[in-house]
Amino acid sequence: MPERTKISTVDSLTPTASASGGARGTTPPGTSDERSAAKAVRQMFDDIAPRYDFLNHVLSMNVDRLWWRRTARTFGHILVRNDARVLDLCAGTGDMSVAMRAVAARHNSSAAIMALDFSHQMLQHGLAKFNAKKIQPVEADALHLPLADSSIDLVVSSFGFRNLANYDAGLREIFRVLKPQGEVGILDFSEPGGLLGKLYGLYFRKVLPKIGTMISGVRGPYEYLPASVQKFPAPQEMLARMESAGYSDVSWTPYTFAIAGLYRGKKR
Ligand SMILES: C[S@@+](CC[C@H](N)C(=O)[O-])C[C@H]1O[C@@H](n2cnc3c(N)ncnc32)[C@H](O)[C@@H]1O
Repeated sequence: MPERTKISTVDSLTPTASASGGARGTTPPGTSDERSAAKAVRQMFDDIAPRYDFLNHVLSMNVDRLWWRRTARTFGHILVRNDARVLDLCAGTGDMSVAMRAVAARHNSSAAIMALDFSHQMLQHGLAKFNAKKIQPVEADALHLPLADSSIDLVVSSFGFRNLANYDAGLREIFRVLKPQGEVGILDFSEPGGLLGKLYGLYFRKVLPKIGTMISGVRGPYEYLPASVQKFPAPQEMLARMESAGYSDVSWTPYTFAIAGLYRGKKR
C-alpha cells in the first residue's frame, strides 16, 4: 500500500457485447443503449460527488451508516481473515469500504480492500478516507473488472449495483472474479409495501428529489434515484437472476421496513 493512496485507473466504459442493443439495466433519461446509460450514470455521479456524502446522510437521516455497518458485520467471517481479498464494487466515496475496514480492524485483520468505481470524482472525494483506512481505490467499470478470474473472496456493492447498465452482466462479472466459496453482498433500495411503504414512497418520489436537487445544485441525479429503484428487479426476480448467473444459497434480507435490503449469494 503506497503511503499516499493513488487511484489506479483502468480504461473504463469499454463497450459491452450488447452495447448497441436495448439496455438491460438502468436507463437514465435520454439514454438508448448500455453505453449511453453508463456514460450518463458516470456523469451524474461526477457532478454530485462534492455534495454526495453530505446529501446521503441528510436524505437517509443517517440510517445509511447503520446499513453499511450491518452489511459489513454480515461478512465478518470473511473480513477477519488476514488473507481475504475484498472488493467494494461501485464504491463511490468509500463508506462501505470504511465499514468493512472497521470490522476487519476489530479482529486485527489486514484484509485487502479495494474500492472500485468508474466515477473519478467520487473516488477523488473519498481519497482522505481511502488513505486513512488503507483502502485501494480503483477507477474502472464494474462490467469489465480489471481482476483475474477466481481472485476475490468477497464482493460487496452498496447502492451501486442498481445503476449498472446491465444487471445480468454485472452478476456474471462478479461471479467470474469470485473464488470458489467466495461471497457476494448487494445492498440496495427496495420498494416497501403497506401504508408505511406508501408514505415512504411519497417522501422518496416527491420530497427527496427536491431536497437533493436543491442542495447538490444539480438537476437530474436526484430525480433519477426513485426511477432507478422502480426499474430495479423486485427481490424474487433479483434472486432468480442471481441463481441464473450461477450463485447458490441466495437470499434477501430486508433492512429498516424493507426500505433497503441485502442480497447474498455464494460461488460454490
Ligand atoms: C449511489 S453511489 C453508491 C456509492 C457507495 N457505494 C455508497 O454506498 O454510498 C453509486 C456509485 O456507483 C458507481 N457506478 C455506477 N455504475 C458503475 C459502473 N458500471 N462501474 C463502476 N462504478 C459504477 C457510480 O459512479 C457511483 O459512485
